[in-house]
Amino acid sequence: MSESSKLEARAVARANIALAKYWGKVDEQLNLPAVPSVSVTLDPLTTHTRVRFTPALSADTFVLDGRPAAPKETERVSTLLDTVRQEAGLTLFAEVESHNDFPTASGLASSASGFAALATAARAAAGLSFDRAAISALSRAASVSAARSAFAGYVVLPLAAPGDAAHAAQQIAAPDHWPLRVVVAVTSEGRKAVGSTSGMLHTVRTSPYFASWVALSPGLAARVQSGIKTRDLPSVGVAMEHSTLAMHACAMAAAPAVIYFQPATLAVLERVRRLRDDDQIAVWATADAGPHVKALCHVDDVERVERALAATEGVLRTLRAQPGPGVELE
Ligand code: DP6
Repeated sequence: MSESSKLEARAVARANIALAKYWGKVDEQLNLPAVPSVSVTLDPLTTHTRVRFTPALSADTFVLDGRPAAPKETERVSTLLDTVRQEAGLTLFAEVESHNDFPTASGLASSASGFAALATAARAAAGLSFDRAAISALSRAASVSAARSAFAGYVVLPLAAPGDAAHAAQQIAAPDHWPLRVVVAVTSEGRKAVGSTSGMLHTVRTSPYFASWVALSPGLAARVQSGIKTRDLPSVGVAMEHSTLAMHACAMAAAPAVIYFQPATLAVLERVRRLRDDDQIAVWATADAGPHVKALCHVDDVERVERALAATEGVLRTLRAQPGPGVELE
């Protein structure tokens, strides 16, 4: 541990949404993804986290949004802290406090911003350097999608080489490269029935379509990446919808099925299609391991898209997001 470490640090990270999806692991131990993924880091959906290593504790503690977290969540936090302690040569336990400025059931994963903020604050508190690749790899070991929140704007998490414990995301383009907007249509307030980790592990083990998903994904991720570079929304949008629906089809074919869609999910997907076909608005949809839909469009169309989604049956509320910064120390 460095002399200058104060054993305490704070960090802020943003959520991200995958334009080309990650679903499935090649290595459960190292938490390595079976497919490459591409995302955009989203403002203003933030998680703030404070980590303090202290001799006063006999175990790690984790308070999330003002309440002690469940033992399983605290264990995931402790596992990340163990890696940091090992690298920094530290034996102290830590007090971790985390706060999401968007509701956990908002339809955007708080685990990505949560683990990216935790990794950053924990490394800094332990006196380790601010190194985005190291932060990304540490976050990825906790939750694959969190690896992408280390970076600003448009981000890729490439295919992992077997055994690569340092596997990390990379930035493709800065937020101002392309001012797209994401409209989130929230369709349910409850927590999702099947979490992404267990949903995908079950898919890997039982879906007859998993091999096809693994074969399809790299091509879709490449199309999304090149569409981002050339600012080609139809190209990104078509590949994003294909990735989304192939991922969900793969999960639905698991035995028993993993179904995240609800009637409102389909209603929003259909509304987005009509905005394209009838109103000639360049807008495409995606959905993660839950019933909510996120629509991707140009900044000039965001009002019309948001109004249309807000008026769709089953949509409880909408929120808007845009490309934002990577993780930062506070
Ligand atoms: C559908 O990153 O939450 O959002 O690595 O098991 O923690 P673990 O999974 P997680 O899965 C996210 C899945 C997804 C697609 C994506 O974000 O790429």
